[in-house]
Amino acid sequence: MELASHKVNLFKENITIECTSENTILEATLANHINHTHACGGQGKCSTCRVSVMEGIEHCGSRNDIEQKIASILNFPSEIRLACQTKITGDIAIRRMVSDKLDMDIISEQFSEDSNSAIGSQQKVTIVFTDIVNYTSFAERFPPYDIVHVLNRYYRIMNNVIQNHNGLISDVAGDGILAVFGIDGDDENSVLCAIKAIGEMNVKLDSFNKYLLDNFNTKFGIRAGVHYGNVIVGPFDTGAMKKTAVIGDNVNYASRIETSNKEFDTQLLLSEEAYNQVKDSYPNYNTYKTELKGKTGVYNLYELI
Ligand code: FES
Repeated sequence: MELASHKVNLFKENITIECTSENTILEATLANHINHTHACGGQGKCSTCRVSVMEGIEHCGSRNDIEQKIASILNFPSEIRLACQTKITGDIAIRRMVSDKLDMDIISEQFSEDSNSAIGSQQKVTIVFTDIVNYTSFAERFPPYDIVHVLNRYYRIMNNVIQNHNGLISDVAGDGILAVFGIDGDDENSVLCAIKAIGEMNVKLDSFNKYLLDNFNTKFGIRAGVHYGNVIVGPFDTGAMKKTAVIGDNVNYASRIETSNKEFDTQLLLSEEAYNQVKDSYPNYNTYKTELKGKTGVYNLYELI
């Protein structure tokens, strides 16, 4: 009996090969002399044969136990499959994900991560940008040592608050903090967590301001912008520095919302998507219609009252 044969389109190579229902994708690519990395020899132990299934994921059989184990460790989304373990029942299009030694080095390090989000994933989270009111005039008046010391003190206090509300500081830049809430967990309550965190940041700022008044005759305020939406969460690794960071248009959106506080003389503004998550808890609000730099259209921003 002749075995059913299916087409596998290879995105990078821009060719289409045949794969029978009895063969794995890796067996088909190797039979066609594709330089498909498979460091463990197809044993399902290294993940270097991983492919992104761009079309026809429904034609890929369920993960077997071997593949499921690696997929769980590395938090693979459904479209990332091990070519050495996957057989197909119809046509697919794939992109090989490991091209060279640097790709292999990055992947092998992922096995040493204890995080269960060792590769990037899309998640719905709450994104918060904050900046410091009065920071610029402070930075103009004091030497670099004082600026760094005060900022480190501020970051340390605020990091504790953010972590206490299940958030994570993804980045800091000057007086700005980018924090995310709801990573790998409870995205439904993440806006509420973020708002409570911002409230507590302001409480902590009161005592921080006593220190600033005593030592620098100044005090700070906090402005914050909050948005709720999909971002790509990844463990980014420059080789010298590793961190969990978020990227995507929704991150820029949150940043623009924070900036709008200056325009409306507000301290905390939420996007419509964020407000909809907490409207039962905060029925009273002011709205501001505005354009946001780098985005088209007019947006409703919400101030809780
Ligand atoms: S070749 Fe190692 S997991 Fe597929």
